[in-house]
Amino acid sequence: DLKGFAFDLDGVIADTARFHGQAWNEVAKKVGTEWTDELANNLKGVSRMDSLELILKAGGHENDYSQAEKEALAEEKNNNYLKLVDTLTPADILPGIKNFLDKLKAKNYKIALASASKNAPKILKQLQLTDYFEGIVNPADLKKGKPDPEIYLEAAKSIGLKPDQVAGIEDAQAGIAAINAAGELSIGIGESLKNADIKFADTSEMTLEAIKERMA
Ligand code: G6P
Ligand code: MG
Repeated sequence: DLKGFAFDLDGVIADTARFHGQAWNEVAKKVGTEWTDELANNLKGVSRMDSLELILKAGGHENDYSQAEKEALAEEKNNNYLKLVDTLTPADILPGIKNFLDKLKAKNYKIALASASKNAPKILKQLQLTDYFEGIVNPADLKKGKPDPEIYLEAAKSIGLKPDQVAGIEDAQAGIAAINAAGELSIGIGESLKNADIKFADTSEMTLEAIKERMA
């Protein structure tokens, strides 16, 4: 029986995936890696340092930077990202998400956050959504990032549920893989996602009714 939902944040709750892309694009320019849609997509759901490694590798620069230089690049990216995040208000919650959260709450579903972002608590606060979440996984405590199932297993634990009682919601391929590996129901936002149990073109189409219909 479905009793809870674990949400990804970037690209599901707010369009911050676009902000991550903008800020990483600057880093790509700086290190001389060509910015492509494919690269941008591969960064979704991936931790800050792993994202930097992917950008360096895409341009063949993986051996050109010391650890200290890499940390400086990641910090610069985060500072630029935070400038974009600072502009977020509740008006930036993606279509339908607020209604969906209200519906889940009214029906007593448990709600957790399974975001790899260390900035997630700040973003929830700016969107005024913090109170909906009974569990928020701290990505600093994780050994492995998505597509490893750890973050979704921890999300289920944080709301006192077993994985098979939880549905995970993701816009990233690495995230769908993590949900599936955790043994949870995978809900994908975006038509191009593979292996999602249920898929919606965008957040406005995701309702509790539509999910139940497709589960039946
Ligand atoms: C999410 C996003 C990624 C981002 C990661 C770390 O998974 O989808 O694009 O790199 O979080 O975010 P952070 O805010 O900690 O740099
Ligand atoms: Mg995402």
